[in-house]
Amino acid sequence: MTMIRIDLRSDTKTRPTPGMRQAMAAAEVGDEQADEDPSVNLLCERVAKLLGKEAALFLPSGTMCNQVAILVHCRPGDEIIAAEASHIISSESAGAGALAGAQIRPLVTDRGIFTAEQLANAIRSDKRNAPVSRLVHIEQTVNRGGGAVWPLETINEVARVARGAGLSLHMDGARLLNAVAASGTTADQFGASFDSLWLDLSKGLGCPVGAVLAGGKDFIAAARRWKFRLGGAMRQAGILAAAGLYALDHHAGRLSEDHDNACRLAGRLQQIEGVKLPYPVETNLVFIDIAETGRSAERLSKALAKQGIGIGVEDQARLRAVTHLDVDAHGIDAAADAIARWLIHPRAGIS
Ligand SMILES: Cc1ncc(COP(=O)(O)O)c(C=O)c1O
Repeated sequence: MTMIRIDLRSDTKTRPTPGMRQAMAAAEVGDEQADEDPSVNLLCERVAKLLGKEAALFLPSGTMCNQVAILVHCRPGDEIIAAEASHIISSESAGAGALAGAQIRPLVTDRGIFTAEQLANAIRSDKRNAPVSRLVHIEQTVNRGGGAVWPLETINEVARVARGAGLSLHMDGARLLNAVAASGTTADQFGASFDSLWLDLSKGLGCPVGAVLAGGKDFIAAARRWKFRLGGAMRQAGILAAAGLYALDHHAGRLSEDHDNACRLAGRLQQIEGVKLPYPVETNLVFIDIAETGRSAERLSKALAKQGIGIGVEDQARLRAVTHLDVDAHGIDAAADAIARWLIHPRAGIS
């Protein structure tokens, strides 16, 4: 199998840089489960401050952040209101139902961003045979909305309706710092309306593992209990937290380079006949529609893989490319050239 050299399948494909590895090797560590790991404690303090919350909790993954938050906010029979495009609906093994006994009410949207009016219409009235509307969930940026950024005003309007109806708010911030880089709105401004939110260390920040969930002290105390219960408590996890601290210092500030590369790729692809971009590029995600070329996304992806280029397949005619710190402008140009070559001469690179 050809090694993938230019890997645009996901921003989770990054490998720790030499500087990050050094920081990990030199990390001060202790027993994280007993709150004795100084690097984990420092990371949590730092992220709590960054997100404008009282406290934070280090968890192995973003999925666990969402699921722990849902477990704290919801009881069996509760309902979560979220965009249909949400990761918690498509990609978390139905955890909300399986673990918390909560149901998700999906809102149909263009790019995963719903309006205050849509939310108001989705909140259930207090009837004994209806689910209890409990939590509003938003994803910043929206992965399957082409990396769309929720504007702060829309968040504020949605939050006003949620609060008025007594609902809690949770943000999946897998790519929150991409939203910060793209909008100039700070992470704590985005976080102000939320009871809980998190950021992922293993996506654009380039760490091998980890995510940090933040909220009020009581929320985090309850989340810590769920972390234990689910087996997420760790031991000398400072080695991982050190990567997070390093990433906040060295990688958060460069996310706009990924956005520039995404725009570069989009610009090149738009010049290929029959290629359409279903979403404007706002951050580091580029969705590519090749339906009009009559070719198969799967076959394009396989042909690219043979040339060491990785691009994800969304459906029969759609692909997704994600930029990150392991792909530079040369890699972007090489990927765009290979796509153009194959779409024009589909046997190119297959032999
Ligand atoms: C929007 C979104 N939320 C949550 C997750 C889950 O994060 P993790 O892979 O750290 O579990 C992802 C991962 O791709 C994501 O894109």
